[in-house]
Amino acid sequence: MSDTYRTFFGLSKEAFPAQIDIDEILVTPEVTGVKNRFDYAVRLGCSAVVTGDVGSGKSTALRYAASSLHASEYKVFYVTASTGSIIELYRQIVEELGIDRSSTSRAVMTSIIKNEIREFVQGKKMKTVLIIDEASLLRMEVFAELHTLVQFEKDSKTWLPVILAGQPTLIDKLQYRTSIPFASRIVAKSHLEGLDINGMRSYLTHHLKLCGVDTNFFSDQAVTAIHQGSGGLLRKANNLARGSLIAAAAEKSMTVSAEHVRIASSEIF
Ligand SMILES: Nc1ncnc2c1ncn2[C@@H]1O[C@H](COP(=O)(O)OP(=O)(O)O)[C@@H](O)[C@H]1O
Ligand SMILES: [Mg+2]
Repeated sequence: MSDTYRTFFGLSKEAFPAQIDIDEILVTPEVTGVKNRFDYAVRLGCSAVVTGDVGSGKSTALRYAASSLHASEYKVFYVTASTGSIIELYRQIVEELGIDRSSTSRAVMTSIIKNEIREFVQGKKMKTVLIIDEASLLRMEVFAELHTLVQFEKDSKTWLPVILAGQPTLIDKLQYRTSIPFASRIVAKSHLEGLDINGMRSYLTHHLKLCGVDTNFFSDQAVTAIHQGSGGLLRKANNLARGSLIAAAAEKSMTVSAEHVRIASSEIF
């Protein structure tokens, strides 16, 4: 869509982008909460879970938490569950580990991964962390098998803390009987709710600042409309906020109104 709105509002880059840099993250109490629980689980070599609806900020909070682990000390493996199958997950982990081997056997893949983790910990003296994003997509059989991946030396070593993030259905999957061996390692849970109205106002001004602008173009009614229309969820708020800036610019209005948000909402899901 046209970027004339950027010139109109004097924005140095695309507003409310899908992906932001670590140092651009708004460190909300929720983000800090995820980081503290993440650190705690990593320190104990256990697991943590982050849940929240689509667009609530899970992946961003995880990136923030992982970024504070020193690269000389920690090796972080970040995979995103896609198809939900275990072999697909193992392939992604193997790829993240930088190993040029693959197999269609679960047992072989488990052993490849565990040997490499052992090498990181014992050989290279590094600590390892596995982050599995979109874990709510994983099939039940994956949860039943995950604990074999994290058991070292007859379960006496906690070498591979696993952080799972996903939609709230992830909790149901972890409560299932076959998931218990893995779930019993979970020591911390965060659930990301949508932002409240004040949080949303700060979020909007934060993103405008990232574009080099100190003025808040959003009227109170527009903030309310974005908050209601998005349910406080950030991805949807991004689209409403950017769309309403475009609608306001089309009318040469320096203030975004609730009507501009309504126009934007007619274009998105
Ligand atoms: N703390 C934050 N500060 C600034 N932008 C954020 C923050 N959290 C999320 N976002 C933005 O909101 C959108 C959705 O976040 P994301 O982490 O992808 O959500 P989820 O993983 O829960 O679907 C992204 O565009 C992201 O850049
Ligand atoms: Mg995500």
